Amino acid sequence: MTESASPANPGSPYGTLPTATVPATRKPVSLPRLREMHGQGEKITMLTAYDATFAAVADAAGVECILVGDSLGMVCQGLPSTVGVTLETMRYHTESVVRGLRRVQGTAWVIGDLPFGTYHESREQALRSATVLMQAGAHMVKLEGGGWTAEVVQFLVERGIPVCAHLGLTPQTVHALGGYRVQGKGDDAAATLRRHALELQDAGAAMVVLEMVPAALSQALTGELERCATIGIGAGQGCAGQVLVLHDMLGINLGKMPRFVRNFMDGAPSVRQAMEAYVRAVKDGSFPVNAQHAW
Ligand code: KIV
Repeated sequence: MTESASPANPGSPYGTLPTATVPATRKPVSLPRLREMHGQGEKITMLTAYDATFAAVADAAGVECILVGDSLGMVCQGLPSTVGVTLETMRYHTESVVRGLRRVQGTAWVIGDLPFGTYHESREQALRSATVLMQAGAHMVKLEGGGWTAEVVQFLVERGIPVCAHLGLTPQTVHALGGYRVQGKGDDAAATLRRHALELQDAGAAMVVLEMVPAALSQALTGELERCATIGIGAGQGCAGQVLVLHDMLGINLGKMPRFVRNFMDGAPSVRQAMEAYVRAVKDGSFPVNAQHAW
């Protein structure tokens, strides 16, 4: 069957999704598979995606986890922060990503980000919000913060919803944090972050994004958290996996490029090859470089 006549590409003039190649031979990424990778020390790759085509390309490039991040508020909607993103918007983009993956028989694990205000009120509110994203096709939800979130995470996990936590720089609370700055610096802040991470692991979080956390602290936490894979963004090379915002790693960030980003389009002939270079670099440990991309 030719590409243009395939069920994945029914001849639309508006772009065709890539044919599945690498992922066609890859089993669907599952929680046990992610645990296995974590246990064996194989780095987990994650990228954000917000639509069908980019999700399909990331999948074809071998990215294991696709985060439908609320960063879409900034990169897709032009909002000043993620605070204005709604659950309905997250549902829409999660459905788009999942549709794209299904059309190419994609295998990536999809994480839907719970936006600001949709899990803060009560565990029940969190369950209702998580249900919206799971019914949109997500395999896991992500939520930000430590301390009070542990009981929310436990409530969701006990009800069969895999959870990724998010500590360090938590963009939904940027106003309380006073800006996009490194978190967990100094003994007290590091001890609090460590306590929160251990509580989230005990609550059942299978992954925790560590954003803008000193590399030494992330590395220590990665060693301590045996049941919860650390996914770093500006947290150094010692994490169990890495995540970047798609637009950042493609070099199309409209603002100042954060220090923790590498532009993988530099020298790459296509978006897919840029993503493949990202996967290779995370897997072989050549990205990130602590001295360049971390604190
Ligand atoms: O929303 C998002 O894209 C995120 C990443 C920065 C981890 O939370």
